[in-house]
Amino acid sequence: MEAAGAEGDVAAELRQRLAAGGQDHVLRFWPELDGAARQALAAELCRMDVAEINRFFRRARGDGGGAAAAAGLDARMEPVPRDVLGSASRDRGLVPRWESRGLAEIAASRVAVLLLAGGQGTRLGVPYPKGMCDVGLPSRKTLFHLQAQRLRRLQQMAEEQHGTPCHIPWYIMTSGRTMESTKEFFQKHRYFGLKKENVIFFQQGMLPALGFDGKILLEEKGKIAMAPDGNGGLYRALGSHGIVEDMERRGVHSVHVYCVDNILVKVADPRFIGFCLEKGADCGAKVVEKTNPTEPVGVVCRVDGVYRVVEYSEISLGTAQRRGPDGRLLFNAGNIANHYFTTAFLKDVVNTYEPQLQHHVAEKKIPHVDITTGQLVQPEKPNGIKMEKFVFDIFQFSKRFVVYEVLREDEFSPLKNADSQNGKDNPTTARHALMSLHHCWVLNAGGHFVDENGTRIPAIPRLKDANDLPIQCEISPLVSYGGEGLEQLVKDREFRTPLIIDEDGIHELVKNGL
Ligand code: UD1
Repeated sequence: MEAAGAEGDVAAELRQRLAAGGQDHVLRFWPELDGAARQALAAELCRMDVAEINRFFRRARGDGGGAAAAAGLDARMEPVPRDVLGSASRDRGLVPRWESRGLAEIAASRVAVLLLAGGQGTRLGVPYPKGMCDVGLPSRKTLFHLQAQRLRRLQQMAEEQHGTPCHIPWYIMTSGRTMESTKEFFQKHRYFGLKKENVIFFQQGMLPALGFDGKILLEEKGKIAMAPDGNGGLYRALGSHGIVEDMERRGVHSVHVYCVDNILVKVADPRFIGFCLEKGADCGAKVVEKTNPTEPVGVVCRVDGVYRVVEYSEISLGTAQRRGPDGRLLFNAGNIANHYFTTAFLKDVVNTYEPQLQHHVAEKKIPHVDITTGQLVQPEKPNGIKMEKFVFDIFQFSKRFVVYEVLREDEFSPLKNADSQNGKDNPTTARHALMSLHHCWVLNAGGHFVDENGTRIPAIPRLKDANDLPIQCEISPLVSYGGEGLEQLVKDREFRTPLIIDEDGIHELVKNGL
C-alpha cells in the first residue's frame, strides 16, 4: 500500500513537471505499465530536463537563427586559404620535422587520443559497436584492436627515440547504447596489451526524439525514444565526467580526436601533432582531397570568415561541383573526422562555449507508439527529428585554426555501410584499402611478390576501383605504424600471398580465399 502510494507521488510530481513543459503525454500509458516498467520510465524522466529539451527544440527549429543561418550558406562559403594549410605530400620536405616534433611530444606523455564511439552504426546495421567489427582481414583484427596496436607501436617508437617511458592515454566516448559492450570487449581482450589505467571510458548524453510538433516520442508504451546527442555531445560529456581535469592531471597538452570507423586511422599521428604544434594551433582538422562532388564527407571551409565544416547534407550540388582554376573541386578539403585540440582549448569550450553550440536537426523515420491508439507505428516517411551537436562545431571558437591534408589512400577508408548495401565504404573496401596500403609499404621497402609459379607480380600498388582485388598483405601495427622499419624484413625478398608480417615474424599463408 505504502509502496503504491510512494509510486503515485512520484508519478504525480513527474506529471506536474512534464505538464509544465507540455510533455505529459509520455505518461499516457502509465496505468498499463507494471512496476518495473514504471520504475524504469520514472528514472529516465527524472534524468530529463524537459524545459531544456523544449529550448533545444525551439532553437534548433529556427527561433535561435538556425534556419536563418543556414539560408544562403552556399554563397557565403570560401575555401581554406593556403596559409593555414599543411600538406603531407606538397610539403614533403617538412614532414620529417613535424614527425620528430610530434614524437618528442608523445615521448613526454603530452599527447592523448580521444575516440568518438557513441554512434549507433545504423547504416552498417551491426548489433554491436562499430569498433568491434572484424572486416575479414587475414588476422581477423577488429577496428579497436588495430587502433590499440598502433598506439602501442607509437609509444614504443617514442620511447626508443627518446629513451624515456611514455604513454598515450586513450579516452573512449561511448553512449548509453554502446558503453557496456565496449567495456566488456576491452576487458575480454585485456585492453589489447595497453595499460588499463590509460584507457578511460566515459559516456555521452542522450536526447529524446521529437515529433515535428516538438512532442517527445515513445519507443514503447513505457520507454522514451532516446538517441545519443551527436558526436558534439563530447563537450558536455567532457565537462560532466571531469575529463579535461584528468587530461590536465596527466600533463596532456595535445589531443587527437577521431572517429571509430576509419580502418586506416593514424591514431596520435606524430606528423599531424607536430604540424599543429609548429603552427601554434589550438584546433586543427585533417582532410583528404575530395574529388567526387557527391562523396558523403563534410568540407572544411570558411563561412562569413569563420572556420567550420559544411556537412554533405548541407551543401548544394551546384556548390559541391564548383571547380577552381586548377580543375580541382573548389571545396575539396574533405573532413575525415580527425581533429587536433589543445587541452586548454577544450577547457575553454567546456567552460564557456559549449552552451552556445546549436543542435543540428535530422529529420528521420522514427518508429513510435501512437499516443491515441497505443499502436506501434513504423513510418514510411520522416515523422520527427533527432537533435545532434557535431564535434567540429567548435572550430568557430578557435584562435589559431589549421588544416592538414593527407593522401586518402594512406589514411582514409571509412566503414559506413554493410557489404550488401552498396559498393562504397563497406567491410570489403576497408579490408582492401588496408591491404593495398600494406602492399605499397612492402614494395617501398624493396620487397616483391610472386605468384604460385614464382613469377614476379607486377607492382600495381593502388586499387583503381572496388572490383580490383588487392594483394593479400597485412602488416601488424606492432611491426610498423606507417610503413617504417620494414626494409630489414623485406628488402630484396620475394613473397607469396597471403602474407602476414607480425611480431612473431613473416608468415606466407596458404591461399584461403579471403
Ligand atoms: C562524419 C563527419 C563528416 C565526415 C565523415 C568522414 C561528423 C558530424 N561528421 O560523418 O564530416 O566527412 O565522418 O567519415 O563528425 N558518434 C558518436 N556519438 C554520436 C554520433 C556519432 O560518438 O552521437 C561517432 C560515431 O561513433 C563515429 C563518428 O562519431 O565514430 C562519426 O559518426 P557518423 O554518424 O558515422 O558520421 P558521418 O555522417 O559518417
